[in-house]
Amino acid sequence: MTSTNNKLTRPAEAAQTSPPHIRWMIRRDIEEVLEIEQLGFDDPWMKSDFVACVRQRNFRRMVIEDGRDVLGFMIYELHQSRITLLNLAVHPCCRRRGLGKQMIEQLKEKLTTQRRRELRTVVQEKNLDGHLFFHAMGFRAVAVVPGFFEDYRDLKAVTGYEFVWGLGDRGRGLGIREAQAETDGEMEGGGK
Ligand SMILES: CC(C)(COP(=O)(O)OP(=O)(O)OC[C@H]1O[C@@H](n2cnc3c(N)ncnc32)[C@H](O)[C@@H]1OP(=O)(O)O)[C@@H](O)C(=O)NCCC(=O)NCCS
Repeated sequence: MTSTNNKLTRPAEAAQTSPPHIRWMIRRDIEEVLEIEQLGFDDPWMKSDFVACVRQRNFRRMVIEDGRDVLGFMIYELHQSRITLLNLAVHPCCRRRGLGKQMIEQLKEKLTTQRRRELRTVVQEKNLDGHLFFHAMGFRAVAVVPGFFEDYRDLKAVTGYEFVWGLGDRGRGLGIREAQAETDGEMEGGGK
């Protein structure tokens, strides 16, 4: 997805009450998560999208908070050999402080403890911040996936870039057709 530059709604100083830590998302987080989602993307997920994730057995939802406010969140899907990151965002007031990195590090840790071998995500072509972030996290762009996203406003298909971080040899590039087949089969929840 494409990040936006909306006005900040929370002063950065007020958000720092204790060291940021990651925990499971609970029902009462949803309004803060929705705000972060709307500030982070031009075509944000709706509340119903977040609620639908609860019903998916393999989906996991986590937030990063400072003891008072939710500062960011991530949603990912567990597969037998990999984790697919479906959504991740940090409140604009708290970006470039390592919170996104903290969430990605947690996913990398899960890989090593759970015998899964790679992290995968798809980012909208025009989301440069997202590309730079995943590149900085050691992910490699391995495929272009035409039409992976749909722009809900003008119903246009939007290209995605698939990023992978792995413990094995998955750094190889996938062909577009192969990537499309895998994403059709495994990323029905949609990435960002
Ligand atoms: C992408 C996003 C999650 C990054 O979160 P963050 O907490 O600001 O990221 P971090 O502070 O952990 O950044 C880690 C490193 O990534 C790189 N990075 C992150 N954002 C960057 C940007 N906008 N431009 C260039 N590099 C960037 C930097 O190398 C950074 O390290 P540095 O700050 O020491 O230079 C955040 O910008 C965001 O929520 N964007 C909108 C939603 C989105 O695009 N999500 C990703 C696709 S699902």
